[in-house]
Amino acid sequence: MTGAKHTAVPLGTRAGMLAAMQDAPPAYDPRAYWTQLHREGSLRSVGQSGLPIDLNVWLYRVLERNLRAFLRRQRLLSPPPARVFEVGVGTGYWTPFWYHLGADRVDGCDLAEEAVARLRERFPDATFTAGDIVDEGVIPADGSYDLVTVFNVLLHIIDEDRFAVAAGHVAAAVRPGGHLLLVEPALLLDASVRPLRAGASSTARLLARYREVLEAAGLELVVASASTTVANNPIEHGLPHIGRFVWSWRTAVRQARKGPRRARLAGRVLSLVDRIVMPTGVAPSGKLLLFRRPEAPA
Ligand SMILES: C[S@@+](CC[C@H](N)C(=O)[O-])C[C@H]1O[C@@H](n2cnc3c(N)ncnc32)[C@H](O)[C@@H]1O
Repeated sequence: MTGAKHTAVPLGTRAGMLAAMQDAPPAYDPRAYWTQLHREGSLRSVGQSGLPIDLNVWLYRVLERNLRAFLRRQRLLSPPPARVFEVGVGTGYWTPFWYHLGADRVDGCDLAEEAVARLRERFPDATFTAGDIVDEGVIPADGSYDLVTVFNVLLHIIDEDRFAVAAGHVAAAVRPGGHLLLVEPALLLDASVRPLRAGASSTARLLARYREVLEAAGLELVVASASTTVANNPIEHGLPHIGRFVWSWRTAVRQARKGPRRARLAGRVLSLVDRIVMPTGVAPSGKLLLFRRPEAPA
């Protein structure tokens, strides 16, 4: 822990409660938090902000490789989605990815105005909206997109009611027969759920909760699988061998913090191990969740 003050005043007393309130980290303010992170305008703004850029580059590379394989397996590339909407575009890492796969148009939105301004400059033919996806009108509700993507965004809506509203807005953009693709820290095991820490900017929910809100909005789950095995922090604490994944992640992080060369080496090793472990189907960290809106009856 860095710089945290600890109180010796017993909790349960008025003085103890006051001391605890003074010690408590500030509540998560999404707009301020993301505006601050996006000032750097690098993968650290949207990936693991506390880790070196060189490691983040590798984490994104591994996810990209796994995502490409997933899209092929799910036959989502023949034909490729023509109209894509990215929820929480961030730095726009994934925007060229969709164009390279054959998309005609990639629109999106983000909470951080500075990020959206950069995206508009980079992709002038597309539409990028600045705003909170909990608010109406930030995501088009016209059900016109072949593919809507949500990569590590819904975990940052920590209030359950707001999460449900945002999920409804996300779902409303998917056309009949179209897909919603999420990369989120969705938990498969009840035993993995952890209480929300004070000041936390994210939360890992059960897959069942994602299903609840998205199925209520008319989507159906197609498949849930690992987005990576070792190339992100392990969250499935209920898995029998989770200790091994925690050890490998912590070792990589420790090495990466020793400098750019070590960070690149740690990234390479994680990438190699991830390639070996992925075929086993074990899913200790984030998940790829694919939902579909059924075709309208003829
Ligand atoms: C972890 S980053 C992921 C960015 C991008 N999807 C990626 O994978 O590189 C989360 C992004 O979602 C945006 N975001 C967070 N909460 C949001 C909200 N309530 N509405 C819209 N965007 C939000 C942030 O500004 C940030 O760019």
